[in-house]
Amino acid sequence: MAHTVRVHSTTWLAPGVVQVEFRDPAGADLPAWEPGAHLALRLANGMTREYSLCGDPADRRSWTVAVLREPNSRGGSSWVHERLTAGTLLDVEGPRNNFPLEPAERHLLIAGGIGVTPVRAMAAELAARGGDWRMLYCGRSRESMAFLPDLREIGGDRVRVHADDEHGGPPDLRAELAEVTPGTVVYCCGPEPLIGAVEAALPDPSVLRVERFRAPQAPESAPGEGFEVMCAASGARVPVGPDVSVLDALSAAGVPVPSSCQEGVCGTCETKVLGGEPDHRDFVLSPAEREAGGTMMICVSRCRSAELVLDL
Ligand code: FES
Repeated sequence: MAHTVRVHSTTWLAPGVVQVEFRDPAGADLPAWEPGAHLALRLANGMTREYSLCGDPADRRSWTVAVLREPNSRGGSSWVHERLTAGTLLDVEGPRNNFPLEPAERHLLIAGGIGVTPVRAMAAELAARGGDWRMLYCGRSRESMAFLPDLREIGGDRVRVHADDEHGGPPDLRAELAEVTPGTVVYCCGPEPLIGAVEAALPDPSVLRVERFRAPQAPESAPGEGFEVMCAASGARVPVGPDVSVLDALSAAGVPVPSSCQEGVCGTCETKVLGGEPDHRDFVLSPAEREAGGTMMICVSRCRSAELVLDL
């Protein structure tokens, strides 16, 4: 759902990291959210970018995100840093949660760099619940890491900080994860090398829940055959060639679907499937959700059958 919000304040958290607090322009309560949720910001330059909510879910008056200015980004973080000032009105979509906290005996939270944003909200929630949890927060140096005092207050000794410059490199994740016991669910958000290292180090990858900033690789296999999309609501039939995404084919045919990352990581283009055999290539749906069917991310996923019927 779209909302117009006003920038209430901006705060410098760490080098290159700005926190932006949004409020309803009329002072009304904002829709509720749960840790792991993100907002999609519609930037005035035509881009949409997702940022995790990192504040307090109990505070219905504000939504807070923290944004690292990425020199090699596609422009979204620079725009946020340069253009969002107190009083700015902005359209946002969400909150949407692709990274929800599941009930578990124990939670292990692992954050790398700006990946701390959803994890900070999770830590606060688990601390409030009195749950059995701990957190590993990794970064290049303590100076570069946002929310350190906040996390110390939330978790005390439950939060272990690993600054690469103090240890001569990244953490030994095999040692860190050796004590993951049955009943523990592991949440990880951070750069791809950290997620890859956690995936490699965990004896049982089924306990891992991740949120990625970017797709880890180009679409894994050959694009495959072409197929036809049938739009159930309008009756339109749209051919999708082997080298074209469903999203692009629909857009070219005058059936635009909201999208953002176009890499299968944000969930913005999720579309209901009514028929056909989706070939899921996204990083949002869990194996169980894929098995259950129902939706697909049409920016990257394709179809194994000759016809795909979408609820469009
Ligand atoms: S646009 Fe992000 S998952 Fe498709």
